[in-house]
Amino acid sequence: MTTKHIPVLIDSIMNILIQEISPLKGKTVFDGTFGAGGYSKRFLEKGMSVTACDRDPEVIKNNSIKDSKLKLFEGSYADIIKQTKKKMIL
Ligand SMILES: C[S@@+](CC[C@H](N)C(=O)[O-])C[C@H]1O[C@@H](n2cnc3c(N)ncnc32)[C@H](O)[C@@H]1O
Repeated sequence: MTTKHIPVLIDSIMNILIQEISPLKGKTVFDGTFGAGGYSKRFLEKGMSVTACDRDPEVIKNNSIKDSKLKLFEGSYADIIKQTKKKMIL
């Protein structure tokens, strides 16, 4: 992505996650459209592990989030979900 993406739904998503699966720390979430990583960054800040993908190789190359709890793959979410055996929140 060349333009800056503002993750406008992240607060709503975090509120839903907090309501439904607290505590978030230690849980694993799947981010199927990583983009600039705005959503994944927030999940990581809450102590979650993140499995993420993006089908754009430039996105993978330009990722600046260095965190051992982030596993980022190149590919479509449709394929990654099939390949990933780990139990995740989708
Ligand atoms: C609007 S951005 C996502 C922004 C991201 N949530 C963030 O916080 O920065 C859209 C991204 O989704 C990716 N994308 C679209 N369809 C996809 C698919 N089927 N599988 C994986 N990534 C996809 C695009 O390559 C693009 O990088």
